[in-house]
Amino acid sequence: MMTARRLKFVGAAGFGLVALTGCSNDNHQNVFDDEGKYAHDIAHLNWIFVAAVTVGVLVGLATIVTLVKFRERPGASVPKQVHGHTALEIAWTIAPALILAVVAVPTIGTILKLNEKPKSCVHVNVVGQQWWWEFSYDNGAATANEMVIPAGEDVCLKISSRDVIHSFWVPRLNGKKDAVPGRVHDWYIQADKPGDYWGQCAEFCGLSHANMRIRVRALSRPDFDKWYANEAKPALQPATDAALRGASTFAQQCASCHVVRGALDSSGNPVDYSKPVPLKSGAAPNLTHFAARSQFAGATFPLYVDDPATKDVNEADPYSTPNPNLNRAQLEAWLRNPTSQVPMNPEQQRGMPNLHLSETQIDDLVAFLSGLK
Ligand code: CUA
Repeated sequence: MMTARRLKFVGAAGFGLVALTGCSNDNHQNVFDDEGKYAHDIAHLNWIFVAAVTVGVLVGLATIVTLVKFRERPGASVPKQVHGHTALEIAWTIAPALILAVVAVPTIGTILKLNEKPKSCVHVNVVGQQWWWEFSYDNGAATANEMVIPAGEDVCLKISSRDVIHSFWVPRLNGKKDAVPGRVHDWYIQADKPGDYWGQCAEFCGLSHANMRIRVRALSRPDFDKWYANEAKPALQPATDAALRGASTFAQQCASCHVVRGALDSSGNPVDYSKPVPLKSGAAPNLTHFAARSQFAGATFPLYVDDPATKDVNEADPYSTPNPNLNRAQLEAWLRNPTSQVPMNPEQQRGMPNLHLSETQIDDLVAFLSGLK
């Protein structure tokens, strides 16, 4: 049996270890690692956190001292009562009001500043749905889960949802903004330097809420222009026999939910998306330039890996790596049975169903999809 003392020690050590995990170095979503002017504005309010902790500690200490000093003991007299003490009542009403007033001025100023529309910006429409994000641009480009932006420039977001309430949050770039069906919320982000900024849906939205991730990739202006122009083009046509068969499988099995602009149908003609197609779900990611992304399935899995054997170590970057290694095993597993990889509810049209594809169909689809650069 563990003694009470040992139990306390183990409890404290366990709590300490859990708290220490917050100090990890490769923390992608650290609000204290702010980047870009919006996040810097919020970081300027960090002193409020220090002030709040100071007040919290003082109140906690005062409570403990009072509890110990004035606890009931045999023979102890009733302590002096202060109920109805006018001077004290006024003091402890005014002091918190003053503290709150001091905190309110910069907080409200920052809230107003964060909501000021920049003079010029790159526009991105953001639509949340169970369980992925769609990002679309003025030139018709549409990506999923991975937003590409030019570094150093303002980006104006129009945030909405196709089903339930989600919340768009990239902690290093700005605060949270809810994605609400039927409403469009304006929000702004900016990253000073090229790089990757990770985010996460911050409003519980069902089974795969935790797998509804965001990756913002800030590129230099010339790199962004290259990416932007490529995304507006129709899909590259299949380059191999396997990819051609994959395009045909895609047209039969996937095209009722997914769009690939310029893809061929089973008879070798371009898929006509102007005709109504029997949609199985409200929407699914546009896959026109699927292979130019670095993530798939709600940004849960990397599409490319440094080395297939150590796939979860470092993710290769399709923008700067000439011929990145496809994360083939993971992509195949996803096509084989999506709900075994990420919890979803396709029976209720939430998430990707198991299409019971044969291994040959999976190989062909991978050949087709991996060519969609
Ligand atoms: Cu979407 Cu949580």
